Amino acid sequence: MNGQNEVLAAASPESVKDREASGCPVNGVLEPCVMVIFGATGDLTSRKLFPALYTLLCNGGLPERFAIVGAARGEMDTEAFRELMRKALVESGKPLDRWGEIAARMRYHRLVSYDHQPSYVALAALVGELDQEYGTGGNRLFYLALPPDLYGAATRMLGAAGLAMEHEQGRGWSRLVVEKPFGHDLASARELNEVLSESFREHQIFRIDHYLAKETVQNLLLFRFANAIFEPVWNRVYIKSLSIRAHETLGVEHRAGYYEQAGVIRDMFQNHLMQVLSLATMEPPSLFEADRVRDEKSKVFRCLRPFPTDSISSHLVLGQYVAGSVDGSRVPGYVEEPGVAPDSQTPTYAMMRVFIDNWRWQGVPIFLSSGKRLQEKRTEVVIEFKEVPYSMFRNVLGEHVTANRLTMGIHPDEVVNLTFQSKHPGPRLCLRSVTMHFHYGQGYRGPVLDAYEKVLIDCIKGEQILFWRQDGLELCWSFLTPIVEKCECKDRPALHLYKAGTMGPEAARAITGEGMW
Ligand code: BG6
Repeated sequence: MNGQNEVLAAASPESVKDREASGCPVNGVLEPCVMVIFGATGDLTSRKLFPALYTLLCNGGLPERFAIVGAARGEMDTEAFRELMRKALVESGKPLDRWGEIAARMRYHRLVSYDHQPSYVALAALVGELDQEYGTGGNRLFYLALPPDLYGAATRMLGAAGLAMEHEQGRGWSRLVVEKPFGHDLASARELNEVLSESFREHQIFRIDHYLAKETVQNLLLFRFANAIFEPVWNRVYIKSLSIRAHETLGVEHRAGYYEQAGVIRDMFQNHLMQVLSLATMEPPSLFEADRVRDEKSKVFRCLRPFPTDSISSHLVLGQYVAGSVDGSRVPGYVEEPGVAPDSQTPTYAMMRVFIDNWRWQGVPIFLSSGKRLQEKRTEVVIEFKEVPYSMFRNVLGEHVTANRLTMGIHPDEVVNLTFQSKHPGPRLCLRSVTMHFHYGQGYRGPVLDAYEKVLIDCIKGEQILFWRQDGLELCWSFLTPIVEKCECKDRPALHLYKAGTMGPEAARAITGEGMW
């Protein structure tokens, strides 16, 4: 950060006013910059990125000095690009009252191809012009809204055109944003990291995981470490098991091309579930700061006990949905979806039992599950506590007293629920389970940032706490690669079929041992 940038951002009464008026929770300085979106004519830009940018602009969540370059291969000019983005806003239901402000900051830049060096030289010239025009202090944000096989070409060309360089010859910072998938196994993830690091250093790379931008996922750390009463029981002495679920009602939709290659483990476990797992189980970092938090996450990943690949079925159940009904509508089976091979063995559901080999978690089973076309959309972390060590009510109530349960609902129920035992009202001595319920949005009326808005703000601020670091990514791949390889080899574990609209394959019960998903 240089002094000039700070002054420019601070001298922006308009955006401060907007932020205050909207209650937009942007703290810290939003430095001016030019943002270049690669893949600007694609689906991700129209559906997510551009609407998020526009919402930020309306809420004072963008720097006053800001310009956008859409870069893609399509033959079009700036006017046509603006029109495309205007339509995207209409489709996403945004009011267009401030359209003129964002339109004026937009340019289109055609790339002959993603590895065509002269196109990047011309891009560098355009970015330089915008820098002068908007006073953006030489700061540049490059967003790769591209298929992953183009990441390498685009970053190399950016590097060769001098666009990755920072703080020299009038340049400010330069940041690169990449979306998942980050490789499809350990080797390809390492390869990708090597290519990115030819031009960009780790602090310049922002690897997105949209789960980390969810408020309720962020709340896991605050809940654990801003309260003194939970941490003392957050360990193997009091906790019997931990479940992390990301259940969906959606099917594969139009993404068969990607999903057939990925399957549920790559699609959901390698990223989102691993992040939630680390937040639920890590040690408290000494400071809420990107590297200290990510250090603790990496320690968790390093402690994951490798799967016994010769008896994988006792730790992993895979499933695939067949036709059924979801929310009252008939839906086809996975193999009947467009683009899916009729004999596809791609899993759309997985339940895994993992262990963390460290002092805190030794012996505590952690159940991770995710699946498509299940009965309901539910993402949550559930902590099952142990029963009381000894029941003083055994003469009247028997030996067992139902144990406590803490549910941290992530989506769509944004809740914290604590279930405990209480006396049933009335003359007889009976117990009943009751629940203390907190809704995350309770008592809050301000705006809520969607995942892309949050991610974009953090990229502009250079705040990396919500992004993957290379070591964490590779550690997770080291754990999961032998599992996905085993699932794709000849003697792979059975694929259990489950009806769409159910709780997933029956066989998953065998893993939890309690009929609990
Ligand atoms: C994406 C996966 O990363 O996350 C999708 O690629 C999945 O397959 C989605 O549907 C789930 O996200 P959310 O926020 O709806 O739980």
